[in-house]
Amino acid sequence: MSGLFITFEGGEGAGKTTVLQQVKEKFEQDGMQVIATREPGGSVIAEKVRDVILDPLHTEMDARTEALLYAAARRQHLVETVIPHVKKGGIVLCDRFVDSSLVYQGVARGIGIDEVLQLNLFATEGMMPDLTLYFDVKPEVGLARIAEHKGREFNRLDQESIAFHHKVRKAYLHLQEREPKRIHTIDASEQIGDVLTKSLQEIQAFMEKKTT
Ligand code: TMP
Repeated sequence: MSGLFITFEGGEGAGKTTVLQQVKEKFEQDGMQVIATREPGGSVIAEKVRDVILDPLHTEMDARTEALLYAAARRQHLVETVIPHVKKGGIVLCDRFVDSSLVYQGVARGIGIDEVLQLNLFATEGMMPDLTLYFDVKPEVGLARIAEHKGREFNRLDQESIAFHHKVRKAYLHLQEREPKRIHTIDASEQIGDVLTKSLQEIQAFMEKKTT
């Protein structure tokens, strides 16, 4: 029996990482075989690639180099972490996946969605998530949340201008329109408890549909 691959997407400060952890705890309490993982990262090699990509000192990084590194980290993470768990019938909750590359590298960095998609299809051999939750919040709100929680890791991409974050949001909304069956939007401007409730409802509705 094959399991479920669910990804969590969104701009900076959307709260997706917090919600992902809470969904994981809930599923564990319910006795489900669930793991939480993230991109870039989620395996020893992929975490090392993450350090290279997100190093605040690497300001000279070329956009295509960055796209290749994300795809390389993704490949390793998929093979080592995601696929084995899904094959065992488990649930994988993954913080970001291919959509992040389409949005950040394809649109915001201007490489082009289709070019970045081709690169990623090579890396993933076409594997896409069963369900994607997109946490939608205005960049001003997300960035203000980050400023409040200074304890969070500050990375090179946090230094981008507000216009970049607006491009990211527009690109996510565009992807959601392109793939409404897979990508479900969650209003992430609400209180975290409400965002969690909505996320659980979306996942449960998806699981019920899958079994009927
Ligand atoms: P995080 O904010 O979820 O920790 O993600 C780290 C940064 O990496 C975030 O600014 C988005 C960026 N990113 C990309 O640009 N492309 C990708 O493919 C992934 C997975 C992340």
